Amino acid sequence: MGKQRVLSGVQPTGNLHLGNYLGAIRNWVEIQQHYDNFFCVVDLHAITVPHRPATLAQDTYAIAALYLACGIDLQYSTIFIQSHVSAHSELAWLLNCVTPLNWLERMIQFKEKALKQGENVSVGLLDYPVLMAADILLYDADLVPVGEDQKQHLELTRDIAARVNDQFAGPEAPVLKIPDPLIRSEGARVMSLTDGTRKMSKSDPLEQSRINLLDSPDDIIKKLKRCKTDPIRGLTFDDRDRPECHNLLTLYRLLSGKDKTTVAAECADMGWGQFKPLLAAVAIAALEPIQAKYRELMDSRDYLNTVLRQGQEKAAVVAGATLTRVKDALGYLPPL
Ligand code: AMP
Ligand code: TRP
Repeated sequence: MGKQRVLSGVQPTGNLHLGNYLGAIRNWVEIQQHYDNFFCVVDLHAITVPHRPATLAQDTYAIAALYLACGIDLQYSTIFIQSHVSAHSELAWLLNCVTPLNWLERMIQFKEKALKQGENVSVGLLDYPVLMAADILLYDADLVPVGEDQKQHLELTRDIAARVNDQFAGPEAPVLKIPDPLIRSEGARVMSLTDGTRKMSKSDPLEQSRINLLDSPDDIIKKLKRCKTDPIRGLTFDDRDRPECHNLLTLYRLLSGKDKTTVAAECADMGWGQFKPLLAAVAIAALEPIQAKYRELMDSRDYLNTVLRQGQEKAAVVAGATLTRVKDALGYLPPL
């Protein structure tokens, strides 16, 4: 039996932060050798809220470079740009026509983002999860490694696939493969540095709320110095009344690679003044090699172009076959 398929993606909007890294990309890297992986830069999703045309192309390169810098290995994984494979938009249209409107109106992320947009909510923002379903279903993905915030979108993807199979599959084989989410218990929800009850987010207007993968050592030290804590001495995990403490200890644990018991024992008697420089040091040490590799890749435009061209070619073959299968099932006259 061949390897199972993995697909995931990140939007080229703003800086990637520790939430994106620990909730998503680092997990992709850890499991990649066991799977056949497709990682896309989801640039069509990036225009579902107002965007800047002047920086979209550069931001797209930046995410592809960060995938590689974080350790995505082309021996196991294919990296490509969503808009370079037109099957994504085409399948999204077909899926639109089998997806009930009220399934989309229920999506938490839509409601949250729509609230922020005020009058200016596009149809694309509502349709965002259908495009995401197309991304996943085109590759017959078995597993989709994402952060906790994407769980509802994955459930919707499963529902859409099941509905297509119900309505259009013949007795022999389903049209679409139903994927499973892969959400880790730790790191799946990295919280804001300014409020331990809210997730770290690219769209938070407070720069202080997140550590970006490309932040300088100085910025990291400053952000951690100012981050929200509590007045209790001694640091503990899993205290419901101490969300900031839990989040910062978890970051320390994940970035240092130490296990939970070791970290709990090491930090049990610490005060914040002692812990914060320690956390800053492990964050800087974890990000430094990623930043160096990123800079090298961003200076090697020809190499990046080659990676993305080859990725597009490989992705287009797989996606094209699925699109044809779906169109056949829906009864389309094939191109003559
Ligand atoms: P996005 O920034 O929305 O394109 O998200 C890219 C990936 O990062 C998705 O798999 C998200 O689930 C994940 N992610 C985003 N924010 C966080 C966070 N604060 N904690 C954990 N994972 C996150
Ligand atoms: N919606 C995802 C996010 O914001 C990004 C995304 C788009 C995605 N298409 C995908 C993630 C397909 C996994 C699989 O994080």
